[in-house]
Amino acid sequence: MKKNIAIFASGTGTNAENIIRYFHDSESGVVSLLLSNKVDAPALERARRLGVPCAAFGKEEWASGEAVLSALREAKVDFIVLAGFLLRVPEPLLRAYPGRIVNIHPSLLPKFGGKGMYGGRVHEAVLAAGERESGITIHYINERYDEGGVIFQASCPVSPDDTPETLARRVHELEYRYYPEVIEKLLSE
Ligand code: GRF
Repeated sequence: MKKNIAIFASGTGTNAENIIRYFHDSESGVVSLLLSNKVDAPALERARRLGVPCAAFGKEEWASGEAVLSALREAKVDFIVLAGFLLRVPEPLLRAYPGRIVNIHPSLLPKFGGKGMYGGRVHEAVLAAGERESGITIHYINERYDEGGVIFQASCPVSPDDTPETLARRVHELEYRYYPEVIEKLLSE
């Protein structure tokens, strides 16, 4: 039986789109819901175009978690994937999906993680620190952001000529390549 995946996304949603497309051809899962905290997130439009039901919830609804949880239950969601989701996952969801919520972070955690470390800021910090490599971390979500158990990491070189944009592109390539595969593996565990 295919598992139902929900994606939470706040922004552009290129990972969300990549994951949706990957699971079109998978026996193990399907993306059956995309939820956002922004009504105008491009991720919502991408989901719509690909025929994935989607919805946006306001800040308070996310904070309490009740409405989100009932949307997840209605769609019989088994597994939650964060892809550029900028809010905390509310407590009731953490309780309802123990070990079944994962996130991707665009650095080699524990380096360059934590509060305020998202998007371009991560790559700027990596370059400012003179790092020679960066990469991605796929990890479980718990109550403390970016501190859940690490599931998978992959690295890429950082060149002295890199800008935050060129580094972001290289890191995104890793995300597109590995995130769907890792999720698929987790679904069968
Ligand atoms: C990705 O770099 C991901 O690692 C981070 O947010 C970014 C989302 O990009 N958590 P996109 O919205 O999937 O294009």
